[in-house]
Amino acid sequence: MAKYRIAWLPGDGVGKEVMEAAKIVFDGLKLDAEYIHGDIGWEFWCKEGDPLPKRTTDMMKTTDAALFGAITSKPQKEAKNELVPELRDKGLTYFSPIVRLRQEFDLYCNERPNIAIPGNPLNLNGKEDINITVFRENTEGSYAGVEYGPVSDELKAALAKDSPKMKFFMDTPGEDLAISTRIITRKGAERIIRAAFEHARKFGKKKVTLVEKPNVLRKTGGLMVEVFEKIAAEYPEITAWFDNVDAIGMWLVKCPEKYEVLVAENLFGDIISDLCSQLVGGLGFAHSGNIGSNYAVFEPVHGSAPKYTGMYKVNPMATILAGKMLCTYLGEHEMAARIQKGVELTVKERKVVTYDLGGTAKTLEVAEEILKNALK
Ligand code: NAI
Ligand code: MG
Repeated sequence: MAKYRIAWLPGDGVGKEVMEAAKIVFDGLKLDAEYIHGDIGWEFWCKEGDPLPKRTTDMMKTTDAALFGAITSKPQKEAKNELVPELRDKGLTYFSPIVRLRQEFDLYCNERPNIAIPGNPLNLNGKEDINITVFRENTEGSYAGVEYGPVSDELKAALAKDSPKMKFFMDTPGEDLAISTRIITRKGAERIIRAAFEHARKFGKKKVTLVEKPNVLRKTGGLMVEVFEKIAAEYPEITAWFDNVDAIGMWLVKCPEKYEVLVAENLFGDIISDLCSQLVGGLGFAHSGNIGSNYAVFEPVHGSAPKYTGMYKVNPMATILAGKMLCTYLGEHEMAARIQKGVELTVKERKVVTYDLGGTAKTLEVAEEILKNALK
């Protein structure tokens, strides 16, 4: 029996191609794993009315972790039109299978490493000393989905009772009003902030920065800062501070080398992690882990790239680096280091690279090259 069981979720479009590439690297490095295919994505929405069939999540529950490619998603109207005719009148609504995976497995931590690879022509301003890992809270904050519109008079009155500033909106008719909440719980704040500090301690990093806006978002930002300061005190070897979300946007472009670990609620983390990805090569490299207490799903950040589907043109490095994160999660540190070395050498030499790095190689050729370099 293999040591690990890994759920293998290629999804749609180029998701299938980059996962094939990742498999070349895992097999070549002899990761002692069994891979179990799971259906996910647009295809299953159209055929079955469910982009994440229960058989997939049931299967995942028997595995150690998952690697996921990418899916296609489309607006609600198109989603309805593309259903097979017999499902069209069933009142089905499309939902994001990724969001549901996060909820179903309580994958509260979104970890996004952004490590500049020397010689990568896509590094911003040629900087090679960037190594920033973003910890984004994945289940609450601005994306908790608690929203109102139109707003009832009862809700307006209830809000006015506890929040003096509501007086400015009492005259706006309910149908002209929309309210989205930002929900922070102490538990949610604690577990993401602790994950960031634990990562820093484990990997010998010296700086953790909270990304917030507590002077304006006083209640939620205030709670984040309070929890951050309390947890920071438990890690005296680490320098901890908070930066405002707007200001850090500038600092990250100007002097990214100043930062090591960033932690943020859902929306701020979403924005800041995309910004950080672009400092070190963008979508061909960006990868992430959705991590909970008992399970984790690793994935490239990019989508199904319909215009390249079937062409084996896109860069597999993002998915292969997501595979590296999976190895680290499983405790296979030597294999993770080999994958990093394989990608680094391939980028440095730029003999066998995809179009985004100025090459003409195909997705699977790049995987073979990374494997060859990883084995050196
Ligand atoms: P996308 O990420 O699929 O592609 C945008 C563009 O980025 C591509 O056309 C290509 O120029 C470049 N690109 C993406 N991946 C690349 C790679 N590995 N190597 C080199 N270049 C790469 O985003 P888009 O076009 O906005 O969305 C396409 C579909 O993917 C949509 O249905 C969308 O909903 C879905 N999507 C899914 C995601 C996921 O599965 N996690 C994330 C983002 C979008
Ligand atoms: Mg995003």
